[in-house]
Amino acid sequence: MTSNRSVKLARRPRGTVTRDDFTIDESPVPQPTPGTFRVRVRYVSLDPAMRGWMNEGRSYVPPVALGDVMRAYAVGIVEASSHPVFAEGDAVTGLFGVQRYALSDGKNVLRVDPSKAPLERWIGGLGMPGWTAYFGLLDVGQPKAGETVVVSAAAGAVGSVVGQIAKIHGCRAVGIAGGADKCRTVVEDLGFDACVDYKSETFGADLKAAVPSGIDVYFENVGGSVLDAVLPRMNRFGRIPVCGLIADYNATERPRGPHWSALLVSRLRVQGFIVFDFASRFPEAIEKLGDWHARGLLKMREDVRSGGVDAFPDVLNLLYSGGNVGKLVLEV
Ligand SMILES: NC(=O)c1ccc[n+]([C@@H]2O[C@H](COP(=O)([O-])OP(=O)(O)OC[C@H]3O[C@@H](n4cnc5c(N)ncnc54)[C@H](OP(=O)(O)O)[C@@H]3O)[C@@H](O)[C@H]2O)c1
Repeated sequence: MTSNRSVKLARRPRGTVTRDDFTIDESPVPQPTPGTFRVRVRYVSLDPAMRGWMNEGRSYVPPVALGDVMRAYAVGIVEASSHPVFAEGDAVTGLFGVQRYALSDGKNVLRVDPSKAPLERWIGGLGMPGWTAYFGLLDVGQPKAGETVVVSAAAGAVGSVVGQIAKIHGCRAVGIAGGADKCRTVVEDLGFDACVDYKSETFGADLKAAVPSGIDVYFENVGGSVLDAVLPRMNRFGRIPVCGLIADYNATERPRGPHWSALLVSRLRVQGFIVFDFASRFPEAIEKLGDWHARGLLKMREDVRSGGVDAFPDVLNLLYSGGNVGKLVLEV
């Protein structure tokens, strides 16, 4: 490969992204200048938040500028370096973008150990989605042994880890996912106590049956009608870490709000969080997640798609249609 191939944001999408929202750019492979290094990107992380990064407006990070390479977490190998810390051959994760080659000054780049886990896992269960599950559940949700923890998008990157950490801490773990197949995976492969299909006509009754002692912690990944069904089942003084609201990410109109009266009646604590609030403790999460994984207590699954950077818009949309099981990554 003698040239770089990158995906650039051409316009601000409306609703679900389409190929026309991006351009594919071919350019020379970048050469490191002093203080930088070049990464050959191997896997790009597909994250639901990417849809928000394409929008104008105030958020926890600035929007991707039109004409810029689409922002993305990725993992790859340092190929050439004029950097004092990162050397040729290092495996690294960072915000390298949807492209085959990236130049980096090392800011917010993490060296990872491919002898301990495959490259793609370092942007999945051992990377940002894993840290999100770890801090969101343990610090924000504060589950206690014997409590019931419910998590939505349970077959996905964050949700699958949340339920397993809940089990490690002696809780009853109940997932919510789309379809019977995903629910079977969540129970049989990941070891949750139960999983409820939110697409089923009997969702409300199934959820009630799956949480006979009510819900103490609801780890919120989706919002919308799932949240509506969960709120009345919350126990007094329950906690709701608000991690994500994917049901609304492609909305073109202001979504209908949930019934918040259960918050009042049951004195719930609802707290939004962003994984970077815990940046100083990422090494703790990597150590704990890695230890549980090595001891067979925590399974991590990646859903690796091919097609190179050109496949980015189609693969990204799998997140919003539920086409992925586990951490979705694109091999580039
Ligand atoms: N706060 C933070 O710092 C932080 C960090 C990382 C991720 N997040 C959030 O965590 C959530 C999960 O992210 P992830 O990376 O682990 O993605 P993921 O769960 O691997 O993939 C997204 C899943 O969401 C489900 N989904 C999509 N549309 C839905 C809808 N309308 N209603 C219900 N479920 C829907 C789909 O599963 P089904 O087939 O089950 O519908 C899909 O597979 C997202 O909301 C994301 O924004 C937050």
